[in-house]
Amino acid sequence: MAKKQAWVHSSHPRSPSYLFFSVVALSFLSLIALLIYKMDNFASQTKTIVGHNLEPTPWHIFPRKNFTEESRHTRDYKIIQCSYLTCRYAASDGGAQPSEEKRRGLATPRSPPKCPNFFKFIYRDLEPWFKTRISLDRITQAKEHASFRIVIVQGKLFVDLYYACVQSRLMFTLWGILQLLKKYGGMVPDVDIMFDCMDKPSIDRNRIENGSLPLPLFRYCTTEAHLDIPFPDWSFWGWSEVNIQPWDEQFKGIKRGSQAQTWAKKISRAYWKGNPDVESPIRLDLMQCNDSNLWGTEIIRQNWTEEAKAGYEHSKLSNQCNHRYKIYAEGYAWSVSLKYILSCASLPLLISPQYEDFFSRGLVPKLNYWPVSSTNLCRSIKFAVDWGNANPSQAEAIGKRAQQLMESISMDRVYDYMFHLISQYAKLQDFKPVPPSSAQQVCEESLLCFADERQKELLKKSAVTAVSPTPPCTLIRRPNPKFFTIWAEQKQKIIDNVKEMENRTNAAR
Ligand SMILES: *[C@@H]1O[C@H](CO)[C@@H](O)[C@H](O)[C@H]1NC(C)=O
Ligand SMILES: *[C@@H]1O[C@H](CO)[C@@H](O)[C@H](O)[C@H]1NC(C)=O
Ligand SMILES: *[C@@H]1O[C@H](CO)[C@@H](O)[C@H](O)[C@H]1NC(C)=O
Ligand SMILES: *[C@@H]1O[C@H](CO)[C@@H](O)[C@H](O)[C@H]1NC(C)=O
Ligand SMILES: *[C@@H]1O[C@H](CO)[C@@H](O)[C@H](O)[C@H]1NC(C)=O
Repeated sequence: MAKKQAWVHSSHPRSPSYLFFSVVALSFLSLIALLIYKMDNFASQTKTIVGHNLEPTPWHIFPRKNFTEESRHTRDYKIIQCSYLTCRYAASDGGAQPSEEKRRGLATPRSPPKCPNFFKFIYRDLEPWFKTRISLDRITQAKEHASFRIVIVQGKLFVDLYYACVQSRLMFTLWGILQLLKKYGGMVPDVDIMFDCMDKPSIDRNRIENGSLPLPLFRYCTTEAHLDIPFPDWSFWGWSEVNIQPWDEQFKGIKRGSQAQTWAKKISRAYWKGNPDVESPIRLDLMQCNDSNLWGTEIIRQNWTEEAKAGYEHSKLSNQCNHRYKIYAEGYAWSVSLKYILSCASLPLLISPQYEDFFSRGLVPKLNYWPVSSTNLCRSIKFAVDWGNANPSQAEAIGKRAQQLMESISMDRVYDYMFHLISQYAKLQDFKPVPPSSAQQVCEESLLCFADERQKELLKKSAVTAVSPTPPCTLIRRPNPKFFTIWAEQKQKIIDNVKEMENRTNAAR
């Protein structure tokens, strides 16, 4: 301080230019300070696709993500850079209109295949809105159930963030949509979608019977009693936290693994490996069946902390097809494990699933899976194992058809499903979608900007590299609504049939 005083009172006369310089320097420094303060302020209000400045959903609380690995300023800089600057200067803007040549490529298309049968369920999922249509008001009301909102306008993706999603679900889901926009450049209609990334469906079907209008909400799964609209889950593009690869690659690996042994050489017991600590009563019940002599069942507890430490060597899905029977048990809601279990070509034993995802509507009991009942669970599994060991060629054939179902759902078909669902949904909207002022544009570059190394690797692996030379598969016309009721009844009849066989066997014991 004293030194400074001396300097100020030094004998050098202060020339006006010197004074001017000092004032400029001082202003400059304050401006920088102000900018840093503003930036900090601005960044701390910016919500990001990885969860900065977002609370977990109130309807399913989970631990907040920590961003403590970076300094505050690095973090602020990254938030602003990735959220506001990247798409603006990106070489390609995500869902660009296709170039002239690419358009011409589409003009002489190879003829598209027919869509798989289960695509029919798009009509059932959208049925509540065929009469009422979807107004902007309905969408706004669905916000109370949503974690984010997606608006696509002219092939560009905008996202309005409300709550954080667990792990990297949001990142991979948005990546999938960006890839769809690239694959079918110029074909995806403008659309406005409320999405919840958490697991439990929330739009009660009964509410519309009481006269309230249905709210349109996308999520990864639904049930018979809900109106939530199922959409392909993030793991089709990869799941960085548990080292799951993009679907096409993951399926190939599992199929290869499933061919390592003939049916006769596969272990003649039912196998389940997973995490029972997910508030799933059925998984807890399943723990009681862990007796290979009594119930023909092997249950292994998966500890992800340990698996991660061991480099996921023991959790490789391709090494989990050595049993003739594979059990599927729902977790907290539906489970991404269903597609991997069905891919094994083992006889899938599905414990009375309550949740449906977009492709599980392709499942037919005794055709491509074996229905196991949750009442008298261990006995029901044992019955299936005994039946399979007594009828090996039938059991093998069912397993094979399950694998074929999953093989028919290549990434091409996943994009087709997204395309048709979004297109049919967009047709029902009676307004022109406009991104809300709080929404940010998301493009490949801005998404990669937030990704860590492991995520980047998966995202790049699952990227669509070119506009599709083939149009999407052709969707059949809307069936009579009775079709879905009849379908459900027939399915239930087969399940009851199996249960009767089981009951007779138990009675004869
Ligand atoms: C975040 O950090 C806090 C304090 O270090 C810790 O208690 C908490 O478990 C961490 N949360 C997660 C999700 O890792
Ligand atoms: C429907 O209305 C009845 C009678 O008012 C009420 O008891 C019931 O809880 C309502 N159901 C739903 C799902 O709102
Ligand atoms: C099931 O039993 C096997 C063999 O006794 C054991 O190694 C395994 O840890 C048990 N699983 C569970 C979840 O208790
Ligand atoms: C999983 O493994 C970690 C590390 O070995 C251990 O601390 C944790 O208690 C285990 N969790 C369960 C549910 O067994
Ligand atoms: C099988 O037996 C259980 C319990 O004994 C009974 O509740 C159920 O209705 C029976 N199911 C069929 C399809 O016969």
